[in-house]
Amino acid sequence: MASITASYPWTTAPLIAGAPMRLISGPSMVHAISSAGGIGFLAAGTDVSTLPENLSTFQSLLSASPIPGAPSDVLPIGVGFIVWGADLTLATKALSELPLPPAAVWLFAPSSSSELNSWASGIRSATKNKSKIWVQVSCIADAIDALKVAQPDVFIIQGADAGGHGRYASAGLISLIPELVDAVRLYCVTNGVGVPGFIAAGGIADERGVNAVLALGADGAALGTRFLAAEEAVIRKGYQDAVLRAVDGGNSTVRTDVYDKLRGTVGWPEGYGGRGVVNLSYADALQGISFEENEKLYKLAEGAGDKGWEEGNARMTTYAGTAVGLVKTVAKAGDIVKELRGEIVVKRI
Ligand SMILES: Cc1cc2nc3c(=O)[nH]c(=O)nc-3n(C[C@H](O)[C@H](O)[C@H](O)COP(=O)(O)O)c2cc1C
Repeated sequence: MASITASYPWTTAPLIAGAPMRLISGPSMVHAISSAGGIGFLAAGTDVSTLPENLSTFQSLLSASPIPGAPSDVLPIGVGFIVWGADLTLATKALSELPLPPAAVWLFAPSSSSELNSWASGIRSATKNKSKIWVQVSCIADAIDALKVAQPDVFIIQGADAGGHGRYASAGLISLIPELVDAVRLYCVTNGVGVPGFIAAGGIADERGVNAVLALGADGAALGTRFLAAEEAVIRKGYQDAVLRAVDGGNSTVRTDVYDKLRGTVGWPEGYGGRGVVNLSYADALQGISFEENEKLYKLAEGAGDKGWEEGNARMTTYAGTAVGLVKTVAKAGDIVKELRGEIVVKRI
């Protein structure tokens, strides 16, 4: 198979993707990531209503600061949808009305195989097959199912360490990547279909992580948590500071539904939870405080602005992965991409 970067000609190997993070991955960040030779994903998430405005802001940024190597028939970015909660009709309308569709569309967390099938075919037809379909999966069964119903161009292999939502039942990348790559290759050879690309996600925060996933069989890496500390991220200072402060992510983060319930972001398919930094909201839930009391305290924290993330008193949701301990500085998103490719050397002790 041709190198994955050949399909996204403005990119440089190894391919670095900025994961779509709902509300956080906005036009400036995706422009910066793609300008540095990666691929930034705008996050539509479950709410497609903000997508047209975000795409139009991106197009203005692109006109003011073109990205060398960008093809003439697609935008040099992707768009991510959380399939179970997003409106396919609105999504296809927004994409078909664009002068240029995004180079890639990232689909995550369908509530059924038939829903994934409708999204993949709906997007392909709305974009006249110009947008490549990326599907994020965290187990072999979901990957084989996706091959049957959506024929993804790229799999994002999401490991257990990933920040934000993912399956509770998932493995670390060190075993997940090689097993998933082998299983997908076998399916493709047996069924005479092309082998998709593979991008790893979950716990990668520096060049060492990127090199590790390449060694395991991935073609590139997608990151969320590291980009929470990008200058261009749309994020409260309190949230960003909490990410910078957190260390020892296996201890300091947890995958749970406590934060979803408190924020009212419910409706995820069975088996999904959100990994975030452990704080008083989670600790109180664990201690058996009533939901009503916990929610009352959460609303008070929400009203307190950045203080809701204050050290020792934090209650606000801080979705982030186990790599939080490797995120120590705020940097420009483009420099993060270059660091990940080893072009900017970071001094370590
Ligand atoms: C704050 C945050 C928000 C996220 N939002 C989304 C989202 O809207 N859609 C999606 O497909 N994945 C989302 N994810 C998960 C990412 O796609 C990806 O799997 C994850 O960030 C990779 O792990 P890492 O955080 O260790 O880099 C989010 C992750 C984080 C940290």
